[in-house]
Amino acid sequence: MPRARVLSGVQPTGALHLGNWLGAIRNWVELQDSHDTFFCVVDLHAITVPHNPAQLADDTRSTAALYLACGIDPTKATVFVQSQVPAHSELCWLLNCVTPLNWLERMIQFKEKAVKQGDQVSVGLLDYPVLMAADILLYDADLVPVGEDQKQHLELARDIAQQRINARFAPKDAEGEPIPVLKVPEPLILKEGARVMSLTDGRSKMSKSDPNEGSRINLLDPPELITKKVKRAKTDPVMGLEFGNPERPETDNLLGLYALLSGKGRDAAASECADMGWGTFKPLLAETLVEALRPIQERYNDFNADPGELDRVLKDGRERANAVAQATLNRTRAALGFLP
Ligand code: TYM
Repeated sequence: MPRARVLSGVQPTGALHLGNWLGAIRNWVELQDSHDTFFCVVDLHAITVPHNPAQLADDTRSTAALYLACGIDPTKATVFVQSQVPAHSELCWLLNCVTPLNWLERMIQFKEKAVKQGDQVSVGLLDYPVLMAADILLYDADLVPVGEDQKQHLELARDIAQQRINARFAPKDAEGEPIPVLKVPEPLILKEGARVMSLTDGRSKMSKSDPNEGSRINLLDPPELITKKVKRAKTDPVMGLEFGNPERPETDNLLGLYALLSGKGRDAAASECADMGWGTFKPLLAETLVEALRPIQERYNDFNADPGELDRVLKDGRERANAVAQATLNRTRAALGFLP
């Protein structure tokens, strides 16, 4: 039996933060032993909002280096850069031509990002989820490990594959049964870490685009900065920490981070911190964060010291990804009736 396929990616926009790690990359690491895994740096997605060309290549390399630093092993997983595999753009075009405009207009992330950009919204921003569908469908992915915020985009990818391609264009076998053109993927969203919230507002998610740096912990933040951000994190005047109180979203989030990163789990963390004041808890959380990120930061520095190694990983990844992606693209082109 071939192993089930996994594909996921992160945008190289600025620094990766705790949400990207806990919601996505941490889960990828666990899957690489049991699954056939493909992890890409989605640089074409990064230009759907205004970007700095002087920064894009560096951010792309740095994101790939962080994948490796977080524990992605290039001898097990295929690590590559989206724009270096041309099939992503080409399948995106084919999918664009069968995707109804109103499916894209109702995407929550599009609406949120569009509000911030006023009349500068690009066609690319609207099309973002179709490119994401192409990323996933090109690799016949069975599973897509992502944070909670990507659920709607995954549903769209499933609908495009099922309703717009397979239902309309599947060729028939000798018995007249349709042979699906594209595999319909499943999201993999873990309960813990799937929605890490902002340090300055427990009701909005931790995000790269929040102008307030203090709202997030970046994976490469030095220890002093982590301690400072935790110290300034929003809290409430109530004594003791607890889960599940809707009036205390910040407490829920910070305790959740401690439970996950200390490895103690929710029950043990909740009883340990039930009577703690913030003056005791915050240094404990800061220390836990620093220790959890230390090995990632050390490995990242090792990869940065040897850029040739990263180049080799990405070249090898590009070749492996290209072979798989091109086969799916050819199959889709044929189903849509293009001249070979
Ligand atoms: P991006 O770069 O915005 O996010 C990358 C991953 O991090 C997760 N994430 C979070 N998880 C928990 N809490 C948070 N606060 C948080 N913020 C972000 C996201 O859910 C995501 O898993 N559109 C994708 C990139 C993409 C992609 C793909 C993913 C492009 N093509 C194909 C999977 C498969 C995105 O959200 O990137």
